[in-house]
Amino acid sequence: MIKLDKVSKKFATGTLALTDVSLLIDKGEFVFLVGPTGSGKTTLFRLLIRDTLPTEGTIFINEFDVVKLSKGKLSSFRKKIGVVFQDLKLLADRTIFENVVLPLEVSGENSQKAAQRVEEVLRQVGLTEHRDKFPIQLSGGELQRTAIARALILSPEILLADEPTGNLDAATSWEIVKLLSDINKMGTTVIMATHNTDIVKSMNKRVVHLDKSRIVKEEKGHHEDKKHEDKEEEKQEKPEEKDKKDDKPQKNDRQEKQEKEDQKEDKE
Ligand SMILES: Nc1ncnc2c1ncn2[C@@H]1O[C@H](COP(=O)(O)OP(=O)(O)OP(=O)(O)O)[C@@H](O)[C@H]1O
Ligand SMILES: [Mg+2]
Repeated sequence: MIKLDKVSKKFATGTLALTDVSLLIDKGEFVFLVGPTGSGKTTLFRLLIRDTLPTEGTIFINEFDVVKLSKGKLSSFRKKIGVVFQDLKLLADRTIFENVVLPLEVSGENSQKAAQRVEEVLRQVGLTEHRDKFPIQLSGGELQRTAIARALILSPEILLADEPTGNLDAATSWEIVKLLSDINKMGTTVIMATHNTDIVKSMNKRVVHLDKSRIVKEEKGHHEDKKHEDKEEEKQEKPEEKDKKDDKPQKNDRQEKQEKEDQKEDKE
């Protein structure tokens, strides 16, 4: 669960990037974050991964109080969130395999297990045949897939994708969204920032609209709507009152294993 309460972010330059943003996102949701350029989408993602701190307000992700997070907990917190950055942040002098394995290397996984996991994720995003190429040898869509693979490598509970269809043609954009949707169906919460109105309209998912640093509108996804009474549909629903959905996606084995390990860690 992601919970922002009255979050504002003012940069040192004086720019108000987010103003009074309150938002509740349940585990397993797929949410589009839309809004004009400069409306605060990337800033919201940066706050969620504690890349920057809010000026005001609180942010909770599961049991983590993100603003007050101790240094000791930062790395276990960050493992829960995979990010596909707007500018991808792939390393040009490393192969696709090497880019994707990086978070596992950093976390100290043994190299045989790490290699196995990379193969698994590359297969999932359809990049197996490109594993030994360098980023410059791949298309835009393939690079997006690489960034998604790297974001997934630690089996995060939450995936943030910042304009993952930004520079892609319509068909490739759809492939990427289909991939993110499949990832979501396996239990990962997905938040996708986008300008792609065609995709947002067709997907019928929850949409959060930002404009000039504020949430100006929220639309519930079509599928969620169906579960409410007709009269409920018109009502502006407070996030806190959101019904528990009965079709929560199944957790995958890795996530369950990870959660058990975390609980064990907490007890220790
Ligand atoms: N590090 C920073 N320092 C100062 N101002 C910033 C910083 N990062 C972003 N901003 C400003 O904050 C506002 C929100 O920027 P942000 O990058 O979050 O927008 P965005 O919605 O992601 O836009 P886009 O759709 O173009 O990616 C903009 O006015 C931007 O200029
Ligand atoms: Mg942005």
